[in-house]
Amino acid sequence: MALRALGLLATGLLPAVVIAAPAEFAQHVLQTRPETVQQTEQAPASPQRKLHGRFLHLTDFHPDPYYKTHSSTEESIACHHGTGPAGAYGAETSDCDSPFSLANATFNWITANLKDSIDFIIWTGDSARHDSDDKIPRTEKEVLASNRMLAESFVSHLSDSNGLSIPVIPTFGNNDILPHNIMVGGPNKWLKSYAEIWRAFIPEAQRHTFELGGWFFSEVIPNHLAVFSLNTLYFFDRNAGIDDCVHPSEPGFKQLEWLRVQLQFLRDRGMKAILMGHVPPARTSGKQNWDETCWQKYTLWLQQYRDVIVGSLYGHMNIDHFILQDTKDIDVSYFEEGALEYAEHVQRSIRKRSQGNLLSTIHDDLTIKSSADYLIDLRDDWAKLPKAAVRNTGNVKADAGKKKSIGGEWAERYQLSLVSPSIVPNYFPTLRVYEYNISGLENAETWKGMSEKSLKMMTVGQGNILQTLDLRDIDSSNQDMQPAGKKKKGDKNKKPDDPYLIIPNPPAKTAHPGPAYSPQPLTLTGYTQFFANLTYINNDAGDFVSPDGRLSVDRWNEGVHKGKQPSHKPKPRPFEFEVEYSTMDDKLYKMDDLTVRSYLELAYRIGQETDKAALVASDGAEGETMQQGEYHDDESKDDHDGFEANGRKKKKKKGGKKKSNKVWLHFLRHAFVSTVPQDELKKL
Ligand SMILES: *[C@@H]1O[C@H](CO)[C@@H](O)[C@H](O)[C@H]1NC(C)=O
Ligand SMILES: *[C@@H]1O[C@H](CO)[C@@H](O)[C@H](O)[C@H]1NC(C)=O
Ligand SMILES: *[C@@H]1O[C@H](CO)[C@@H](O)[C@H](O)[C@H]1NC(C)=O
Repeated sequence: MALRALGLLATGLLPAVVIAAPAEFAQHVLQTRPETVQQTEQAPASPQRKLHGRFLHLTDFHPDPYYKTHSSTEESIACHHGTGPAGAYGAETSDCDSPFSLANATFNWITANLKDSIDFIIWTGDSARHDSDDKIPRTEKEVLASNRMLAESFVSHLSDSNGLSIPVIPTFGNNDILPHNIMVGGPNKWLKSYAEIWRAFIPEAQRHTFELGGWFFSEVIPNHLAVFSLNTLYFFDRNAGIDDCVHPSEPGFKQLEWLRVQLQFLRDRGMKAILMGHVPPARTSGKQNWDETCWQKYTLWLQQYRDVIVGSLYGHMNIDHFILQDTKDIDVSYFEEGALEYAEHVQRSIRKRSQGNLLSTIHDDLTIKSSADYLIDLRDDWAKLPKAAVRNTGNVKADAGKKKSIGGEWAERYQLSLVSPSIVPNYFPTLRVYEYNISGLENAETWKGMSEKSLKMMTVGQGNILQTLDLRDIDSSNQDMQPAGKKKKGDKNKKPDDPYLIIPNPPAKTAHPGPAYSPQPLTLTGYTQFFANLTYINNDAGDFVSPDGRLSVDRWNEGVHKGKQPSHKPKPRPFEFEVEYSTMDDKLYKMDDLTVRSYLELAYRIGQETDKAALVASDGAEGETMQQGEYHDDESKDDHDGFEANGRKKKKKKGGKKKSNKVWLHFLRHAFVSTVPQDELKKL
């Protein structure tokens, strides 16, 4: 173990603010944690800010300095030249990137409408344009400048005389580096640059770890809630610069070790965590975003820390949806390094690297057509969820017996990832405001209060204290580690061979189910999805004939105004976000909160074939009229064998198409941010 700790040290795997058991140390570290914002000690302390129980999630800005209003949306032109329908605030439903005016307007709107009623902001990356224009290839300088511009906008819009007033937690996307998708392990120049660009957001004490891995956390409610910024590029299947999460030399391995150690500290301190990152852990028969070993470990970690994790938020996909991870898919044999032939490993990485090069298509974001395929895959999986996913089927006896199949009362068999659509108007620009339960935290010290205090108390030499703590903690946490809790297939008592696999402890037997599972303080209670109707705001629509090309199968989507030329000067209307829907009053979703249980039920309902089965409500209103027989079998055979195990698509069987139901169509409408009309949704 000591050797191992040394190894971790040598590779730079130092958990950042690792806080040892003694509470006074924890207090000391927390209170002396400086937030690097431009402020002076002389500034008068602002009145203590209270929590609002609300936070903002923004993702995929993709600001493009070359965007030109009324330029062409054609693929080779990308809204940079020529004449065409590109609107003043962006070309909705196209693959063009965002004009700066859209980023600007977004910040202005947030400042006017949200700034004073949110507690923190989660910003999940892709803050530079795509490399879509051969004539103007992206440069390192430009990608960083674009990120800097957005980071500075956050600071300037969210600061008072005492500096940043709420914490912002950034992460990078696969387009925030050059070439896109590819990031090797740290330290590297990108991580160094982002450590500098995000200096106002990354706690000072974690700057060093950040430069080594690109991950950090921020205590958004000191001593209660931390947001973990994960560098998902180290899990990303398309990153040809990494291999897996099994080998200790891999940055993905190191990141998961860091996460494990930190989550354990949070558990010890009675704190909770929100995880966030750019690329979500999508894993369907047709689409797998993460390397399988990374997915496996992450899912295992989340299962073991299910008492700590509040939720997991991602971007990248641009479509509004959610993902359920099933812990039944955890298979520790993936970690058995001993079983991995070295030669095979080398082969694999060579293959992957060449694949990475071949696959460096510009837009790995999904087109409507490929998105629809992906969503249909999700639905096919959801169609197979156990009936117990529905809280009240109207058959009390049957309900009681079946909870086991979903992991008990709180559905702890499953985990949830929430994916927000983008600012870049692949559909319409969006942002999402989450609400969470702050019962009992009304008077908790806020990040702002803490950061102001910490500035006054800042002491020299704290780096040494931290280092001492780090050393001891890696050791002591290793002692706590349990050997594998899960058994290898076919060999019941055998531990995984992987000497580097440390399976975290599960929650204590007496622990209450976590906030992701049972409603309690910090549980996510709902969100409101906002969108900016660019068709209305750009005010060019009258000049174009009816939209076409929406369901284009081409990789590049020219958008609804494809081929049309505006005949006038831009005359946009005032920019505004409006509510698209809210989970808190959505009549079809009928969600009491955003717990896994609520989403499991929604997923089940989306997976049903008939409206009647899909509209069953958790309160049993419609449920009472339901008969068991009206449910389809758990193992809906339908079109699921339309996919081979390797994810390649086969021809669908005749008559295998699942029928639409209202909840599914509603979900689809939201997936494309209400840009696709109902009759076209039905065709999907
Ligand atoms: C963005 O806003 C800033 C100041 O708020 C302004 O100087 C700049 O011209 C704006 N840029 C665009 C493209 O609207
Ligand atoms: C918030 O948590 C408290 C304490 O657990 C609980 O009583 C209350 O019902 C929760 N509120 C919501 C909206 O879930
Ligand atoms: C957006 O605005 C256009 C033009 O006013 C309108 O036709 C369309 O229905 C609006 N879309 C949504 C989702 O509100």
